[in-house]
Parts: sequence; C-alpha cells; structure tokens
Amino acid sequence: MAPLVFKDEHARAMEGMAGTRTGQSCPCLFFDFSVGQWSFHAPTCELSDSGLRREPLLQMDTAQHGHEPVLLNEAMELLSPQSGDIVLDCTTGRAGHALALAGKIGANGTLLCLDVDPVNLTFAKQRLDNAGPTCRFFQANFAQLPDVLDAAEIPAVDVILADLGVSTNQMLSEQYGLSFTHDGPLDMRLDPQLDRTAADLVNDLPEKDLADLIFQNAEERYSRRIARNIVQARKLKRIATTAELARLVRACLPPARFGQIDPATRTFQAIRMEVNHELDNLAELLKVAPGRLKPGGRIGIISFHSGEDRLVKQEFRQWAADGKCDVLTSKPVVPTEFEMTSNPRSRSAKLRVARLRMEEKQAW
Ligand SMILES: C[S@@+](CC[C@H](N)C(=O)[O-])C[C@H]1O[C@@H](n2cnc3c(N)ncnc32)[C@H](O)[C@@H]1O
Repeated sequence: MAPLVFKDEHARAMEGMAGTRTGQSCPCLFFDFSVGQWSFHAPTCELSDSGLRREPLLQMDTAQHGHEPVLLNEAMELLSPQSGDIVLDCTTGRAGHALALAGKIGANGTLLCLDVDPVNLTFAKQRLDNAGPTCRFFQANFAQLPDVLDAAEIPAVDVILADLGVSTNQMLSEQYGLSFTHDGPLDMRLDPQLDRTAADLVNDLPEKDLADLIFQNAEERYSRRIARNIVQARKLKRIATTAELARLVRACLPPARFGQIDPATRTFQAIRMEVNHELDNLAELLKVAPGRLKPGGRIGIISFHSGEDRLVKQEFRQWAADGKCDVLTSKPVVPTEFEMTSNPRSRSAKLRVARLRMEEKQAW
C-alpha cells in the first residue's frame, strides 16, 4: 500500500493518535473531502523524526497547489511532448500537467493555457512564471478552441490535453458551491460568466427535467425520488445552499455504509455537469480539436465519468475508422494502485489518447 502524506500538523496528530513511533507504519482512517468519503489505509504513513515522511512533489501537490495532477506520468508518456512543440492545455487548473508539459517542450516551446476559471488561471500563471517555454493564458472555454487559436494566430498545435471536471481546490472552496461537506451558496459555476447557477436549476426546473438530468448525468437510480423531494421543499422556501440540497438528497437514499461515497455525491455531480454544460463542451472539443492538430499531433482526454469516457471512446473510434488517426490507448489508461491510494480523487480517472495520421491533413 502506498504511503499517505499529510500536512505537518496532521502528521503529528496522526502520529499521536496512532501511537506509532518514528520509522513505523500507522494505519490511517481519514475523511477525503473531495469525494465525501471515509477511507482507510493500512499500513500507510511512514514516520520520520519530523512527522510523516515527505514524498516527492507529486504527493504534496494538493497541500501546496490545491490539486494533484492525475495520470501525470502516463499522460506525458503517451502525449510525448517534444522540445520546441506547441502544446495546448485546455484545462490548466493549478498547472500540474502544464508544468510537466512545459518541462518537456523547453524554452523553444509554446504552451497555451486555457481555463474558464479566472482564479485557477491566475494561480497557474504565477506557477508557470519562468517555467521555460513561452506561455500564453486565455480565460476561455475549450469548446471555443478555434477562436482562441485564431486569436493567438496559431493554426495548429502538436499536443492537446484536456483533464476534465474540477480541481480539488474548486471542490473544497465554498466560493464555488460544489461541496456538500462545506456549506456554501448553491452556485457550482466554474466560469463566473455563466448566468445560470445550480440554485437556478434546482429551484426552477420542472420535476421531470430535474429527475432526468440527475439520472442521465450521474446514473442515480433514486433520481425521481430526489427530484420529488426537491420540488416539495422548494414550494416552502428557495433552496439556496449546498447543505440544504445535500440534506434533501440524503433524505431520499439509504445512508452510506462505511467506505461508500456520500449519497449526495452523484446528484451534486449531475447538477454541476448541467450548470457547466460539461458534456456539450466535451462534444464540441472533440468536434473541433482534430482540425487544429498538426499531422502526427496527439490529443489526450482524462475523464472522470462514464458518460464523458463513452463520448471520447466513440469519437476516437470514429476518427480511426475514417483513417484520420490512430488510437494509442486500446483500453483507457487508469491510475495505478499507488496513485489511487495516495490521491483518492484519481480513482475514477480514465485517459485516452489518439494521434493524427502523418499523411497530408484532410479537411475535418
Ligand atoms: C481537473 S482540473 C485540471 C487540473 C490540471 N490538469 C492540473 O494539473 O492542475 C479541471 C480544470 O478545467 C477547468 N475547466 C472545466 N471545464 C472547462 C472548459 N470547458 N474549458 C476550459 N476550462 C475548463 C476547471 O475550471 C478546472 O480548473
């Protein structure tokens, strides 16, 4: 089992609680706020004189940078960014993948960084300062990729990466209203320019539409019951906070057993996907991206949801059937046991990569 790494204060607390001594391993029970679930790891934390042993940067990323990049090594290997390449990170987030890409393409390369969230983009800009390549930042939706590249006067790129969903800092911050473990306004917009919040959806959608979206986006089998409960509650008062919604959802489901995810997880995911048009954006990205890859260019998508992965799989297969690309991942690449243990958020991650054929580029 892989070692877990906590911040110093947690490390000392865990050491005391577990009654372990330097050099020993201690079994740990901890609450993972990003997935709303208790996890147990044993044996896990190797202790040193100063508390828990510090692992390499990869494991410290959440504490230091608000997010730990998933499938980092696998993405670098398959996307194979080369010195001098032009690379587009569609979902820059906290710059975990971007920094690794920057290191590979070096000073002659160009890194284009997109994110809809200005907070993450500003953070990434600071983190990538002096990273090596020319870095350009765009607060933009990856569905608008052609507009961004036209504005940058770059007709085509060597590598495209999209690491879908939300970063851990977004998940944990009350400001985004994504978390059912921290109460906050029911917002869920990653892009503050969007005008419809989660509260608007939950309070205004007809019951059937609400049930359908919860079922379709998250395969929640209790979707009808949840929608009915929400509609009953909103007759009395507008649902305004994440805690209120979580309570309404939990009341419709059997309580989570030890080790299971919080019953509100799927409904929150479904509503977030709808607020941010996540499936539509992905479909649009898949439509436009190949037309903006150079011959031999690679595209990688990391998804966290079966609906997203299905879209990517089908689209890549179609490109291959049309003779336009080679799929480099016959099966999706998933995290190692080690990564899943050290970063539980990575558990549902799937990476698929395709490479455009070298022949003269056809019109897409
Ligand atoms: C999982 S995080 C990416 C983390 C990043 N790879 C890293 O290592 O730090 C997803 C990021 O994509 C952004 N995002 C989500 N949908 C987007 C879209 N349609 N266009 C651009 N950015 C998007 C989110 O705001 C978030 O910052």
